[in-house]
Amino acid sequence: MTHAQAKARHVELVAEIHKHDRAYESGHPLISDYEYDQLEKELKGLEEKFPELATPDSPTKKVRTEPLTKFKRVRHLEPMLSLDKIQASDRPTKDEEPDDNKRKRLQDENTVNEFARFDATLQKQLGTSRIEYVLEPKVDGVSISVHYRHGKLALGMTRGDGREGDDITENLKQIRDIPHELKMKQPPALLEVRGEAYISQKDFEVMNAKLEAAGDEAFPNARNATAGTLKQLDSRLIAERPLSAVFYAVGAREGIEFETHAEVLESLKKFGLPTQAHWWVCKGIEEVRECYLKNVVAHYDERRDLRSRLPYEIDGVVLKVNKLADWARLPPKAKAPGYAIVHKPIPWIMPAETVLKAITVQVGRTGVLTPVAELEPVFLQGSTIARATLHNEEEIHRKDIRIGDTVIIRKAGMVIPEVVEVVKSKRPAGAKPFDLVASVGGKCPACGSAIVKEKISAGGREEVAWRCENVAGCPAQKSRRVEFFAQRRALDIESLGGIVAEKLVERGLVNEPLDLFKLTVEKLGALNLGTDDGERVYGEKNAAKAVEALERSKTLPLNRWIYALAIPNVGEETAYQLALTHGSLEELAESQLLQDIRELGELETERSRNSPQSRKNPPKTPEEKLAREKRNDEIKARIAEVESRVEQGGKARMPEVGAVAAASVLDFFASVYGKKILKRLKELGIHPVNEAADKGGAPTRAGALAGKTVVVTGTLATMSRDDAFAKIRAAGGSVSNSISAKTDFLVVGENAGSKLDKAQKLGVKVIDEPQFLKMCG
Ligand code: IVH
Repeated sequence: MTHAQAKARHVELVAEIHKHDRAYESGHPLISDYEYDQLEKELKGLEEKFPELATPDSPTKKVRTEPLTKFKRVRHLEPMLSLDKIQASDRPTKDEEPDDNKRKRLQDENTVNEFARFDATLQKQLGTSRIEYVLEPKVDGVSISVHYRHGKLALGMTRGDGREGDDITENLKQIRDIPHELKMKQPPALLEVRGEAYISQKDFEVMNAKLEAAGDEAFPNARNATAGTLKQLDSRLIAERPLSAVFYAVGAREGIEFETHAEVLESLKKFGLPTQAHWWVCKGIEEVRECYLKNVVAHYDERRDLRSRLPYEIDGVVLKVNKLADWARLPPKAKAPGYAIVHKPIPWIMPAETVLKAITVQVGRTGVLTPVAELEPVFLQGSTIARATLHNEEEIHRKDIRIGDTVIIRKAGMVIPEVVEVVKSKRPAGAKPFDLVASVGGKCPACGSAIVKEKISAGGREEVAWRCENVAGCPAQKSRRVEFFAQRRALDIESLGGIVAEKLVERGLVNEPLDLFKLTVEKLGALNLGTDDGERVYGEKNAAKAVEALERSKTLPLNRWIYALAIPNVGEETAYQLALTHGSLEELAESQLLQDIRELGELETERSRNSPQSRKNPPKTPEEKLAREKRNDEIKARIAEVESRVEQGGKARMPEVGAVAAASVLDFFASVYGKKILKRLKELGIHPVNEAADKGGAPTRAGALAGKTVVVTGTLATMSRDDAFAKIRAAGGSVSNSISAKTDFLVVGENAGSKLDKAQKLGVKVIDEPQFLKMCG
């Protein structure tokens, strides 16, 4: 690298790091800690080689500040969940120059198929053949929750981590769009409304120009500006900023009921709250399709595209089940409800073109080798992209990606960019197909051990990948596991990511994640994160925080621990579902249900291989045909037997857990490594248990109300409705808002109304509060 190149990259990196510092300080980081560490690492490397670049104000000289925490933290009455995404894949057409119309048609087909798949799942879960939906824009602002008590604005909160947020009441009161009082004659005791604060694109530009003119720093985008403004401690400043808000949901409520989501949206508007100008009720999935084509992508007429018809930024559309009574009957995901899905139309995802300089191979926490595209840096939707995942070797071949190619990249989720396709017309002469194994000399690039080809399950699909088998010894796997274990979504142990995990492993302090529990403040504080010459210690303050977080992690629920163990093929959702049906890690290790699911997979494979009708492997003689027919009958009988056991065991609650994942979990706990982990957990006194019941009503096995659906009506004497709901969930039951034949119990308080009548008509068992309390134990 020449000095000029180094300087240019330095400028770029500093800008990038500053941007992420701002995002982090506003409480809304745009990248993971690991990615941030990588940027810092690269910057440090540059400054080591070219010390004159390390000016005193370089980010390497500063400590990253914590997000503002001066606001009072308040618990949400109901958790603020996120939404699951569906992403129609944009497979390029086979032609060299893809025909535009054909491509659009394919995109539409894909999108509609994705919607249809969601609809099919829901139809099964609800046992109906037609579901009414609402299709509405997904606002790209900052989520807020506002409580109105007896019609008066009583509390305003940020989303925070979904369970707890900041009390920003005073700030929200400064937003003109948010009424201090609801327009209703008889306001309910409580109505929580949820929505998004935003700054419109036009206002954002004016505001930035003003900031710059005053010598202040401009914000990179409207969303950052909104987040930063809402977190201002001085609420007078808010009034000067052009903040607006829009509401699309209700949360906790007392004394008011709604039947449908459409009714919610209409009512909010009537109460004087700002709501979205465009949303559509669709009577069934065909109407969703028509509505999407006509109103969202607007038949690709840019002037009529939904984005151009709203004053705020939107980054997708949300499809929600209209009937609220159905919401409670749809099993929630780990972090998202089952009744809604987000879709980002492909034409809305801006692509960028750049050059693929090299393909490197990374070793992940489960030893899987992942090819990564090293790109000519390019600016895309708010950040500079220099790397993109290539997923696996198959994907590289399918898209025919070669080093030197000009490629189109795009951000798939919010953060991880991927290579969409190659611009074949710009391919340099002599570019050769990529050979992953040859590129790593046939060995693990981190530890030099043998690699093997294996089936893995990725997001429900099965894929083939290369894997380093040196589970216990490979330093890359070790540090990735430690990092994974500590990440927010797993055990949330502050600041043990990236470089820290690497150094802990490199310096021999930690070999596997559970070694973290041996660390003391002194030992960890003295950890050298720099080199032998350039020492940079972790510090006691950080260490004390990390040790405290470790202590806290011991009491986290079972699903977080299952996830944290980094079992191959077990993602967050799979871990959650495993925890729904298993009470502890020991139970999981010996699970009959998982053994059955694994066996079922094996039987299915044998059946298709053995089938007398097999085209791939047809029987050669009549005798063989007969023998295979006989064997197939045996297999079928066995499948029926195992299948019914699997159903009884609760498979319906683990749709994500297939044969590959089941085998993977069992193999993990049967391995020397897995056994050691169970033993050490016991020694450490860590016994994670099933807390899934408190996640929104999914039934668990334990508990007096296991698998029961309970409705509460009227005013209870000794507890609020939310307390009652929590009790039901804690006892393993699920809460529903409306009575149906499927309801097991109706708990009645004072002034019970129509629900009681309906329950009596349907023969649902009615219990009073003392009976209910006794039942919950
Ligand atoms: S419904 C369970 N509707 O997007 C979540 N959310 O990525 C119910 N959002 O947490 C939310 N526009 O903050 C809903 N029309 C819309 C939305 C919307 C934006 C936000 C919301 C949610 C996040 C999920």
